[in-house]
Amino acid sequence: MASPPRRLRRLLLGACALALTLVTAIVAAVAWTWADADVSTVGTTEFTTPLHIPPLAASTVDAAGTRVFSLDMRTGTTEFEPGRATDTWGFNGSYLGPTLRAARGERVRVQVRNQLPEASTVHWHGMHLPAAMDGGPHQMVDPGAAWAPEWAVDQPASTLWYHPHPHGATEDHVRRGLAGMFLIDDGPSSHLPLPSAYGVDDIPVIVQDMRLRGTRLDGAHAIFRDIGFLGDRTMVNGTLSPYQEVGDELVRLRLLNASTARTYTFAFDDGRPFAMIGSDGGLLERPATLDRIPLSPGERAEIVVRMRPGERTVLRSEKLAAGLDFWANRFSGGDDTFDVLELRAASTLRPSPALPQNLVPPSIPDGTDSVVERRFDLTSAGINGERMDLSRIDTTVTRGTTETWIVHNIDGMAHNFHVHDVQFRVLDYDGAPPAPELGGAKDTIFLPPNTAATLALRFDGPADPTTPYMYHCHLLWHEDVGMMGQFTVVEPGQQAATPPKHSH
Ligand code: C2O
Ligand code: CU
Ligand code: CU
Repeated sequence: MASPPRRLRRLLLGACALALTLVTAIVAAVAWTWADADVSTVGTTEFTTPLHIPPLAASTVDAAGTRVFSLDMRTGTTEFEPGRATDTWGFNGSYLGPTLRAARGERVRVQVRNQLPEASTVHWHGMHLPAAMDGGPHQMVDPGAAWAPEWAVDQPASTLWYHPHPHGATEDHVRRGLAGMFLIDDGPSSHLPLPSAYGVDDIPVIVQDMRLRGTRLDGAHAIFRDIGFLGDRTMVNGTLSPYQEVGDELVRLRLLNASTARTYTFAFDDGRPFAMIGSDGGLLERPATLDRIPLSPGERAEIVVRMRPGERTVLRSEKLAAGLDFWANRFSGGDDTFDVLELRAASTLRPSPALPQNLVPPSIPDGTDSVVERRFDLTSAGINGERMDLSRIDTTVTRGTTETWIVHNIDGMAHNFHVHDVQFRVLDYDGAPPAPELGGAKDTIFLPPNTAATLALRFDGPADPTTPYMYHCHLLWHEDVGMMGQFTVVEPGQQAATPPKHSH
């Protein structure tokens, strides 16, 4: 029998061995999670499927001259891969929705019917319209119910989009497939010699993360992913491994990041430069030559790329260079890379007119007439320290005035900031004048940790003291858990009313 000190030594040795095993196991688990946390489809994508082009939505014009669209929110099944039927949601179909198109000056009405098993909403992202038509969390549509918002389109030609906005379930509803484009046309843009044949030399490119689990569309948040859902591959317009045949020298891509959490950095595989001609709220003053463009969830960019006869080029998403620390970058998907879309040029191409040197005059305020400056400090725990409360109005603005908003990400992770109803100008980004890609009309802006942006926003109304608009992080899970606030537009001297309580 061992003497007492010896027994103690054995016990200690045993404890040490156990601790060592535990530490090894933890290190191995973290290393595995680390290695597993970055994904890439670069070089392995075969581009086997022609890109689906969302159809242009049919519309009718009623006796009063209003253009009327119909959107049915439905459940269905989609074969992203042949023989693998996956449950999805869509507008007028099983996944995504048709492209709505209207011209500035038109009145539009959208007849929305909810045939889903859950209440939802349809929000017109980027649209200037009355708060009651906005489709935010105060305009819930119950299962089986209908909603018919109507407004006059009064903003420059642009690439907008629509998606649900039910408080607490937006990530889920968008990830299941509820999203579509809404294109605005106007006189000045239609007179410019830009590629504009829809689906031919003017291509909608709705990019989303996805992951298939058997026949299910996965939505799980992986460990350490406090960013929300990230997929292991991308699709465009609901097409996996997509290619698009092009027959023109210049091709315009309307890029929309419709992912719920992923920030993409779009570039071509051969590093070719392209012209950025438009941002969230419409055309830039002049084309900007870039070789990459980062887009965070909700942002859009219209780019024009030059093709040579017979060639192929791949639109990729590269690693995120946003100054995140290595841990945050890895676990928020910043190390991931994707082959997004292959463009295949015909052996002879139709000549395209050269891009104009100047596009459109600016439509956004320059901030010189701002009547108030406000600060918005962003963390995943809320905005200015508060979580979203549907019955609290956070900000009241006066119709017809311009304001300056300083949005500051004071968190350790990346966020972005989206404002309903208006397009803003970025006056300052991270202490410097904005880069060309941030120089146009914006409704959503990406904010890496410790980055601040100064925005000028003009609230042209109409006023509605009882219905608020939203501002929020467009990483949709952050929005769902409360990284959102409400602002109301009132007439001078008017007070914002408390929004009515909802049954949802
Ligand atoms: Cu695209 Cu409030 O959302
Ligand atoms: Cu919006
Ligand atoms: Cu966020």
